[in-house]
Amino acid sequence: MRILIIMLALFLLPAWADEPHKEYTSAEPFLPHVSGDDHLTGTYRYWKDPKNLDMRLAGSPDQSWKLNWKHLDYPFNKEMHAGHLALDRGLTLFNKLNRSGTFKNCLVMYRFNGPYETSLRGLRTHYPAFRTDLGRVVGLEEVIEHCAKLEGEVLQNGSYDNSAVSIYVASHSLGMPIKIDVSSGPLRESWRRGERLFHQKVGRNNMSCASCHVGRIGQSLRATVVTSPYGDVAHYPVYRDRFGITSLQVRFAQCSLDLGFNALKPGSQAYNDLEVFLTALTNGYPVSVPSERP
Ligand code: HEC
Repeated sequence: MRILIIMLALFLLPAWADEPHKEYTSAEPFLPHVSGDDHLTGTYRYWKDPKNLDMRLAGSPDQSWKLNWKHLDYPFNKEMHAGHLALDRGLTLFNKLNRSGTFKNCLVMYRFNGPYETSLRGLRTHYPAFRTDLGRVVGLEEVIEHCAKLEGEVLQNGSYDNSAVSIYVASHSLGMPIKIDVSSGPLRESWRRGERLFHQKVGRNNMSCASCHVGRIGQSLRATVVTSPYGDVAHYPVYRDRFGITSLQVRFAQCSLDLGFNALKPGSQAYNDLEVFLTALTNGYPVSVPSERP
């Protein structure tokens, strides 16, 4: 009998060892209260028309722009704000880095889906992308850091100056729809990982990104309104009154702290994958920089 129990235990042990130690919630169904919107990408046609939207999602009508700012952009705020100062700073830095023309070439050289490009126009709409020189899927800010390094300058991903250059580069795509293709290849794999991470419960609160951004859309948390995951990416880097110029991955870090787990470094694979996932959900939304949010 004892032998039998030991044999049974030995048989079961590998199965236990394979068990993921973290709880995983599969994708929750998203009901945006917009008729027909059951797809994960290309939802701009629904959000852009305020008539289609159920403003109750925002909690209160005063807050609706925060939830659905998407249809209010662009430009959301024409008044002068710190985003415009960052744009100016970005232009100055860009010109300094691009004295010999190699910085710009480095940014545009690995463009996909089209003829060889020399202009910054439309560049923002194709990121994140797989760069063969870096051998991985990267966001625009990481590419800016990489290309600046080749010019002998440090422009750390997530820093003010890096985001300023990113805003300047993105301003050449103003109004153009975000367009990344996650149907195959490394971007597809990254999208899958990002989707999983978005729904993975982690941290001391045992929450996932989806717990808030799917399950609690429109609810007020610490006086801020939880956004739907659609279209957020198009206005990054953004000027936040409370946080200053914020890149998308710095926002991920802030939300990671809300989740109750350590923030990761901008440019880490997990954040790049999350960026790919959320950018696919932003496909079709017009690039809107410099944008401002309270
Ligand atoms: C505890 C709830 C909560 C969790 C969990 C959470 N977020 Fe957030 N998130 C928020 C709130 C609230 C805001 C709006 C913040 C504001 O307006 O200041 C926000 C804002 C954002 C934004 C910016 C939206 C915009 O339009 O600018 C992004 C992107 C984002 N979160 C991504 C994530 C990701 C990725 C995760 C998982 C790593 C995550 N969030 C987890 C509550 C959460």
